[in-house]
Amino acid sequence: MDKTLLVTGGAGYIGSHTLLALIAAGYRPVVLDNFSNSVPEVLRRVEQLSGAQVEFVEGDIRDAGLLDRLFQQKAASGNPVQCVVHFAALKAVGESVANPLAYYDNNVGGTTTLLQAMDRAQVRHFVFSSSATVYGEPVALPYTEQHRIAPTNPYGWTKAMVEQVLRDWAATGEQRRAVALRYFNPIGAHASGRLGEAPQGIPNNLFPFITQVAVGKRERLMVFGDDYETADGTGVRDYLHVEDLADGHVRAVEYAGRTEAPFAAFNLGTGKGTSVLQLVRAFEQASGVAIACTVLARRPGDIASAWADPALAYRELGWKAERSIEQMCADGWRWQSQNPDGYSN
Ligand code: NAD
Ligand code: UD1
Repeated sequence: MDKTLLVTGGAGYIGSHTLLALIAAGYRPVVLDNFSNSVPEVLRRVEQLSGAQVEFVEGDIRDAGLLDRLFQQKAASGNPVQCVVHFAALKAVGESVANPLAYYDNNVGGTTTLLQAMDRAQVRHFVFSSSATVYGEPVALPYTEQHRIAPTNPYGWTKAMVEQVLRDWAATGEQRRAVALRYFNPIGAHASGRLGEAPQGIPNNLFPFITQVAVGKRERLMVFGDDYETADGTGVRDYLHVEDLADGHVRAVEYAGRTEAPFAAFNLGTGKGTSVLQLVRAFEQASGVAIACTVLARRPGDIASAWADPALAYRELGWKAERSIEQMCADGWRWQSQNPDGYSN
């Protein structure tokens, strides 16, 4: 069986870890990335770690001509693309509020351009990086996939809109299959210490901020609120190891190949909540480095708690998160301490 996949955004944080998982499972990924938020060095490291050559096209998912050529060339070489794993997107919530059109253009417009090119090339399977952010303020926890969809910012809306586009696209028949993976909070890094998250500028998210404090790039962690209705007053999230998340994509590609359901959405999380201070303590234990913290006011738009019901992913995909918070911290620290400046070391 041919196992050629197109991986958009494959040079990014989650995409790069997923490349390794896909290669290990016998797939041949072709990466399309415009390096708007990543660097070519990532792919060199994926090649080193996997021992495989990674085919790569530098370009934009909004370039229809490029997509046509890519799909045609793969088909002509006898390795037609079987499935698209779609990571490429902009992902900063604050930036999406300031510049929503850039987000709708790249994330929604980019996806429809990609689906149209897939239709022309008769590529029928699609795995999409969605987010738990589509749920918005929780009506009840844990979030199940039936929870109402009510994002609270333009970034979240792009994810909800693309899910709707995929539902409608897949419903047009011809064995189209779309799988939306609603990620909770991916953190950590590849166990080798060679791949990890390398945010540009000041990190928006908690974990890379903690690791940058530990390595001396930031002075202290600002804890956004300690007056939530949680055990210690700080925000609670469902952190999952990026390697577990990567494995979820292999399961989703396999599922797309066997399911009768045109569209399905799955939560990918551990089902366990961890507070800001619990994560800080776990990181201190794993790294042996003390993290200076200052408590500030709540971050606007934040919710108190969020965690997944991951049962559907286990039932349908056979996937569950295996790695502990301790492992996430140890691997994240190995990456950050060995690559203090990310990929520019
Ligand atoms: P990332 O920024 O590290 O990776 C995205 C990659 O896509 C980058 O390499 C970037 O250069 C590329 N890209 C962006 N726009 C492109 C375009 N128009 N054409 C070609 N390439 C383009 O982000 P990530 O954390 O790896 O996230 C991957 C996906 O998962 C995104 O869709 C994101 O919205 C989603 N997601 C991420 C998280 C998270 O916490 N990291 C949570 C939920 C969902
Ligand atoms: C954020 C995004 C969400 C996205 C998710 C992906 C916002 C409002 N939401 O959510 O859309 O899907 O990342 O990973 O940006 N915290 C601090 N100090 C910091 C950073 C964070 O105390 O410097 C706290 C937050 O208040 C929160 C927790 O840490 O309680 C986790 O924050 P973060 O990593 O940004 O993730 P989310 O809030 O889940």
